[in-house]
Amino acid sequence: MTKRDIITLAVGLGVVAVLLAAPEETTPHLPTDSTHEKFHQIFRAEGKKAAEKFCKDCHGQEGMEFPEGHPDPNRCLFCHKANR
Ligand code: HEC
Ligand code: HEC
Repeated sequence: MTKRDIITLAVGLGVVAVLLAAPEETTPHLPTDSTHEKFHQIFRAEGKKAAEKFCKDCHGQEGMEFPEGHPDPNRCLFCHKANR
């Protein structure tokens, strides 16, 4: 092994270590129940932005507040994936 091989190997192992250390994805997906089914359809036909327009009709309203510590609730589908 040359010095260069060793450096390449070390960098490669470093990348793998970072990937393994990344937290498991825990953000809940867009539910597939009847309430949310139409948003899956809009998402597939017209994309995230078109579907997201409706989320706040229910979420964030009185009685359906976002959980404490929820990130800034915009662009819902970037975090709550519609495809699985
Ligand atoms: C008509 C009202 C309504 C609309 C509009 C709506 N939701 Fe919901 N959503 C609910 C209700 C009620 C629940 C809780 C019961 C359930 O899981 O269906 C819920 C639950 C959720 C959950 C939690 C799932 C879990 O596993 O805990 C997520 C995430 C979510 N909705 C995302 C969205 C997104 C993103 C949109 C927009 C594309 C959206 N919702 C539009 C009513 C709505
Ligand atoms: C930056 C990423 C991000 C964005 C944008 C986002 N969320 Fe969330 N959301 C999360 C995470 C992470 C959780 C889980 C947090 C927790 O459990 O405290 C969560 C939790 C929720 C829950 C509760 C699930 C439960 O089981 O209690 C609902 C409902 C929800 N989000 C709806 C939405 C809606 C609707 C939008 C858009 C208006 C949105 N979120 C935008 C990351 C995001």
